[in-house]
Amino acid sequence: MAVAVAHPNIALVKYWGKADSERNLPAAESLSLTLGAMFTQAQVELSGGSTDALVINGVSRSDKELLRVSRFLDLIGGSNRARARVTSTTNFPMSAGLASSAAAFAALALAGSAAYGSKLDRRELSILARRGSGSAARSMLGGFVRVRIESVDGYVEAFAEQVESKLELHAAIAIVKGGEKELGSTDGMEHTRQTSPYHSQWLSTVTKDMKAAIVALGSGDFEALADVTEGNALAMHADAMAARPGILYFEPETLELVRALRALRKSGVLVTFTIDAGPNVVALAPARELPKVTEALAAILGSDRVLTSPPGEGAKLVES
Ligand code: DP6
Repeated sequence: MAVAVAHPNIALVKYWGKADSERNLPAAESLSLTLGAMFTQAQVELSGGSTDALVINGVSRSDKELLRVSRFLDLIGGSNRARARVTSTTNFPMSAGLASSAAAFAALALAGSAAYGSKLDRRELSILARRGSGSAARSMLGGFVRVRIESVDGYVEAFAEQVESKLELHAAIAIVKGGEKELGSTDGMEHTRQTSPYHSQWLSTVTKDMKAAIVALGSGDFEALADVTEGNALAMHADAMAARPGILYFEPETLELVRALRALRKSGVLVTFTIDAGPNVVALAPARELPKVTEALAAILGSDRVLTSPPGEGAKLVES
């Protein structure tokens, strides 16, 4: 039996669009912060059974999630592998909108490769995790992490790499709405790729934003990073909104939170925000600013709908 733990991450430069769905290859690079307060633990136990089994937070699954996990384990052990019982447990609400697939597939890549005796280095593990979910590549590592795209002899690969940073940021997550998203990231980004007239512009924006964000982190320039983070999130949503029919992830409270955070930043507080494929808002700020940030978010949603997190470490094997 193998057990691994991984943290979710929040993207400052978003992954929104694939180059190859078969290999789950992103069309552009991305950058995120691993979130230490939340985690998923994945346990993989090879069973003598004829089918795989999946239990998520105590509930047995026999739907498309089991199929996704089985296909993922095939990437590790081959299609004739021993069947497995996978148990996944999270300490954060799925409703937090923190791409729960990121922590889940990062932990599963690590536990699965240990269970099947497959020896992979961190880069290979991040590539494997990416095959499960693009954002999961980034959860293999801690702190600020980029997905780098490299082409060797015409073969394109995308893997995670840690980014040097003079800034240490914490996250405050404002949970606008719980439950399943109306349109998940995988389908949302594919619909956007196929129908948004802004999509190629979005992809070139990402290339510029990646460069600017990495420079800002390296030099400790919070204002520059904040401009990129906020601009990139809004550009991703503009791309999605321009799809036909348009994808609208925002709720009224999303805008209320964004306006409050912008006002706070204008008043001199070092804070920026981002929004994933859902209505929740994630504020990013140095630790010393966090009380003011959470207070502003809680004034709108109530303190029980605001979660905070320090930066987190990369995925870890805890038992093998
Ligand atoms: C908006 O990683 O969930 O959170 O590769 O199809 O599983 P798949 O997509 P996923 O997409 C994440 C989209 C995002 C932005 C991001 O995390 O970069």
